Amino acid sequence: MDFTLTQEHELIRESAHKFGQNEILPGLRERDREAKSDRGQLEKMGKAGMLGVAIPAKYGGSDTDYISLGIVCEELERADTSARVVMSVHSGLHSLTLLQWGTEEQKHRWLPKLATGERVGAFGLTEPNAGSDAANIRTTATRDGDHYVLNGQKTWISLSDYADQFLVVTRLAQTDAKAPYAAFIVERNLEGFSSRALHGKLGVRAGNTGEIFFDNVRVPKDCLLGEEGDGFKIAMSALDHGRYTVASGSVGIIQACLDACVKYANERTVQGEPIGRKQLVQQMIASMVQGREIGRLLYYKVGWMKNVGLRHTRECSLAKWTNCAAAFDAANKAVEIHGAYGYCDEFPVERYFRNSRGAVIYEGTHEIHTIMQAEYELGYREDRPLARTLPSWPVQ
Ligand code: CAA
Repeated sequence: MDFTLTQEHELIRESAHKFGQNEILPGLRERDREAKSDRGQLEKMGKAGMLGVAIPAKYGGSDTDYISLGIVCEELERADTSARVVMSVHSGLHSLTLLQWGTEEQKHRWLPKLATGERVGAFGLTEPNAGSDAANIRTTATRDGDHYVLNGQKTWISLSDYADQFLVVTRLAQTDAKAPYAAFIVERNLEGFSSRALHGKLGVRAGNTGEIFFDNVRVPKDCLLGEEGDGFKIAMSALDHGRYTVASGSVGIIQACLDACVKYANERTVQGEPIGRKQLVQQMIASMVQGREIGRLLYYKVGWMKNVGLRHTRECSLAKWTNCAAAFDAANKAVEIHGAYGYCDEFPVERYFRNSRGAVIYEGTHEIHTIMQAEYELGYREDRPLARTLPSWPVQ
């Protein structure tokens, strides 16, 4: 077993960190206060090569591995969760799923522009009545000649206002099959497609979230991903990628809590000494370190499994579940350490607290992952090898 990061990983960490410092942090407090998202930032991420991480060079990517993707997510979320959400949705849920399930023609058609940020991709699974119960989706796809006609609605869709294309999971109207689902790449410019932003979120305010609507949207049949009936598996394998980016990003938020708390604990004095000398503060700092280190081990393992092409749904769920809980706990402790200052946005920790709460819900709630882990252990759930694997790294 070798945990050494390569020189390339270190360089990727350094450049993602600099990107966070130079491109994300300036003006963030105002964007967060005003709930303003910024498409320009997404374009800069594309130009900096971040949206091509884990995508093979032959599809316009940077030929870097999944550990690199985790490192980028860590560093982006160390700056701000809304920037990491872009990686989760555009790269994890959209591009990597297209890479896994697309035909050669589909991959060549879309991936090069997604890898540079020229096009933005998003993901549509959740509906008003189908969140955790993903199999209960009601959006339908009806076959009509060379098209499928989509009708329905998706909600809590990140990048809903910006994305040029959506990976949409639907129910097939004309089938009585056991798995009546199909997934499509739906381009925004199709007639009958519309979107509406959601406002008033607790966190990730500098990010765009909304609803998307399909009113007789005619999707060409060559936009079907996989086969009819593959839709649910495609959705679940998309979550294997998305959850990996959330798990690795959560380590970044813990690091951000430590960055803020170490500084504050060394500067703020009580009874003539820095509060960092107080054992109760040390206990909270130590617990954050524990969360960061366990979190890295968990996501490095998943990154390695992805690199060698192993099914990793169980391990990814464990990493996402554990790391999101640890990040929320770290943020709560970071507010505690900052006292009253932690309760206002003069310091960044209140933002970490609000932002880390979201990840305990999205991409599988705390309860869903608890149940999944118990079911694996009890023998009620098992992961079989996948028919459609991702390219292994290094690319053979
Ligand atoms: N890859 C490929 N196939 C998979 C798979 C995976 N990761 N996981 C499951 N499958 C396959 C199974 O093998 C099974 O196929 P067979 O019948 O051929 O064996 C089929 O899919 C059904 O799988 P399950 O039996 O596991 O399905 P289930 O109904 O028991 O799933 C659940 C239950 C795991 C709780 C699932 O509903 C779930 O994950 N719910 C949470 C949904 C979720 O995370 N939503 C987040 C939305 S996206 C988001 O939040 C992003 C954002 O924008 C912020």
